[in-house]
Amino acid sequence: MGKTLGELGWLDRVVVDSDIVLVDLAPAYAGASVELRPLLLAALAPLGVGQMGLREAPVIPRARPQGGLPGLDRVKNIIAVASGKGGVGKSTTAVNLALALAAEGARVGILDADIYGPSQPMMLGIPSGTKPGVKDNAWFLPIAVHGIEMISIGLLLDGDNTPVVWRGPKATGALLQLLQQTQWSDLDFLVVDMPPGTGDIQLTLAQKVPVAGAVIVTTPQDIALLDAKKGIEMFRKVDIPVLGVVENMALHVCSNCGHAEHIFGSGGGERIARDYRTELLGALPLDIRIREEVDAGRPTVVAEPEGEIATLYRQVARRVGAALAKAAQVDPKRIPNIVFE
Ligand SMILES: Nc1ncnc2c1ncn2[C@@H]1O[C@H](COP(=O)(O)OP(=O)(O)OP(=O)(O)O)[C@@H](O)[C@H]1O
Ligand SMILES: [Mg+2]
Repeated sequence: MGKTLGELGWLDRVVVDSDIVLVDLAPAYAGASVELRPLLLAALAPLGVGQMGLREAPVIPRARPQGGLPGLDRVKNIIAVASGKGGVGKSTTAVNLALALAAEGARVGILDADIYGPSQPMMLGIPSGTKPGVKDNAWFLPIAVHGIEMISIGLLLDGDNTPVVWRGPKATGALLQLLQQTQWSDLDFLVVDMPPGTGDIQLTLAQKVPVAGAVIVTTPQDIALLDAKKGIEMFRKVDIPVLGVVENMALHVCSNCGHAEHIFGSGGGERIARDYRTELLGALPLDIRIREEVDAGRPTVVAEPEGEIATLYRQVARRVGAALAKAAQVDPKRIPNIVFE
């Protein structure tokens, strides 16, 4: 965050009991104590503190959506997960990011905005034919699954294979309706799995959905990076902060011999993050488990919560949380008025 704990105001309570220190943290993103624990222990050791108890109760702020759009009452921050190119692992990243944010302690929902190829119901293991509940004839009720809430246009279609051939305005209309007429619980984050590309639909969505920040998913090869750049430029054009880039399928380690190969090239995510002055949020390997687990409806973050891949997703989640907390800090509404007398 680039500030001291004192400046951030995250220290809620510190109790010193002989050589034990108990710290209550109220960080602006969930999971901040993971990085803070070793730093605090290192700072306390020279003072003769042998043990530290650290508790965290995050207070996640609301960041300002673009263009003065009104936010959703019950959703603090909408995060758009997008890519210029299709098939780079956007939906896989979106669902694991949502589950990782929840694992860090945030309240999370996911909206599958890919009207042409909804994949969240399958990735979250929702039996086909499941329909969302309807309340007062006006609200969809999201499906609760793996500790998060989910809604998808896929739940409203008949059968798995109904092709959705809506044109732009109808498609965006359906999506906005799904967004605005779903009765979410009080959520810290709503992750939106965007349709691939940077065409009219994506641009309209980026203009109409009150987004706090965007995460761009890319694979490392040049053609995907080129499209990812278009994605970044699209969000910047509509004044949505780009929280960072996730490089997917960055490295393949052979499960037989352990040989590591950069199948799609290396360093692309880092380059694009540097060129566009944004952050590389993480690099995920090309790993058969990631594919098998989303196919089976139990994404890696819930299938192997202690594994190294889940650890990578959780680090991405904390970085996203931190980037949003920073974005909320610069919210003009939160800057106090200065009065000269
Ligand atoms: N890191 C990874 N390792 C292995 N397989 C992966 C990885 N990421 C994604 N996949 C697999 O690649 C395929 C495409 O992923 P996904 O559906 O998430 O892409 P997408 O960008 O959402 O595609 P679309 O543009 O069609 O929406 C899926 O079968 C998924 O399981
Ligand atoms: Mg997808």
